[in-house]
Formats: sequence, structure tokens, C-alpha cells
Amino acid sequence: MLNDRSSALSLLETRRSGKPRELVGPGPTPEVMKRILTIASRVPDHGKLHPWRFVTVADDQRDALGALLRQALVEHDPCATFQHHQKEDEFAHYAGQLVVVVSAPVANHKIPVWEQELSCGAAAMNLLLAAHAVGYVAGWVTGWRTYSERVRAAFCGPGERIAAFVFIGHASRELEERERPPLEEVWTAWHPPLFDDE
Ligand SMILES: Cc1cc2nc3c(=O)[nH]c(=O)nc-3n(C[C@H](O)[C@H](O)[C@H](O)COP(=O)(O)O)c2cc1C
Repeated sequence: MLNDRSSALSLLETRRSGKPRELVGPGPTPEVMKRILTIASRVPDHGKLHPWRFVTVADDQRDALGALLRQALVEHDPCATFQHHQKEDEFAHYAGQLVVVVSAPVANHKIPVWEQELSCGAAAMNLLLAAHAVGYVAGWVTGWRTYSERVRAAFCGPGERIAAFVFIGHASRELEERERPPLEEVWTAWHPPLFDDE
């Protein structure tokens, strides 16, 4: 048990993202994806609403994704250059398994939408962690396409939106560590407010 825990700690201490455009395939097998998505689903979820879903895009659907993104780009930026269109096509064809994380909050529920969205963020984070734990590298990207109505409608139902495009593959080079916030900037002890009569 102790060993299990220390290896879990080392996984948590070493996880980092890979740049999706630099990943190489193949992505996980369907069996491993099942395991990854099961872990991703194991997150705090006030009200047990599972207000998120995962949509996988198959390799043979990448051309269709490219066509969708290029069409959406025309609406997003009618002046987009050939290079920009090419970039979207490249995005659609990044290596590995693409998982689109969809935020699917239940409207008019006693659990505030904000809390449901936090649960979705936790699911996306667990997806990255699970991918790392099974030996893959993952990267979470968004960008203009996440907010395009055309792209949203291709992945989401009413009231839903895209939280993340997560690519899962292998690193083509050693991943760079990035700077992490100094703990003193993100950790303070609470000072209770003073009351008027104090
Ligand atoms: C909500 C959200 C949106 C992101 N969108 C992008 C993006 O559009 N492009 C990008 O390169 N990275 C994006 N990232 C990822 C980060 O920029 C970066 O990969 C990550 O913070 C690296 O930290 P890590 O190594 O701890 O995972 C996004 C991350 C989050 C949480």
C-alpha cells in the first residue's frame, strides 16, 4: 500500500502537459481509453449530476473535423489567412486520441451551474492525470474554436459547451518543465474579519 501511495505521489509530482501539436501517436487502445475515462469520471460531483461528457473523435473522422473547423473559421474571422486555415486543419489532425470534454450542466437545479462547471474542470484534470498514469502524455487546449457556435453545435446539445480538447499521445521530445507558482503566492493563512465591536 505504501508503495502504491508513493508511486501515486511521484505521478502527481511529475505530471505535466505535452503540446498537442508535438505529440506523436498512437493514442491509447479502446481498452485503455475505457480505463482512462473511468478514472476521469471519478471526480467530486455535488448532486451526483455528472455534468460533463467525453466525446472521442476517431482517426478517420479527422478530415471531417478539419472541414468543420475551416468552415467555422470563415464565420469567426472572414479575413482569416490561408495559413490560419491550414493551422486549423493541422489541429484537426494532431496525433493521438482526441477527447472533447463537454460541460453539460443541469439548468435550474439547486446545485449552482458554477459548481457543476467546477466538477467538469475536475473531470478534465483527472483525464490528464489518468493519461499520465497509464504512460501517455496529454494536452488540454481551447482557443477560438471552443467558443464557435458551429463547433459547439457539432459536439454539444442545448445548454452544453466545450470545456477542453484533450489530445492523448506520446511525447516526441523531452517535455519541458514550466515554472510553478511559488507556494507563498497561492497559500495564505486565513485572517478572520474584525467585527465592529471588537
Ligand atoms: C481551461 C484551459 C484552457 C487551455 N487552453 C489552452 C490553449 O488554448 N492552448 C494551449 O497551448 N494551452 C492551453 N491550456 C494548457 C496550458 O496552457 C498549459 O498546457 C498547461 O497549463 C501546462 O501546465 P501543466 O504542465 O501543469 O499541465 C489550457 C489550459 C486550461 C486549464
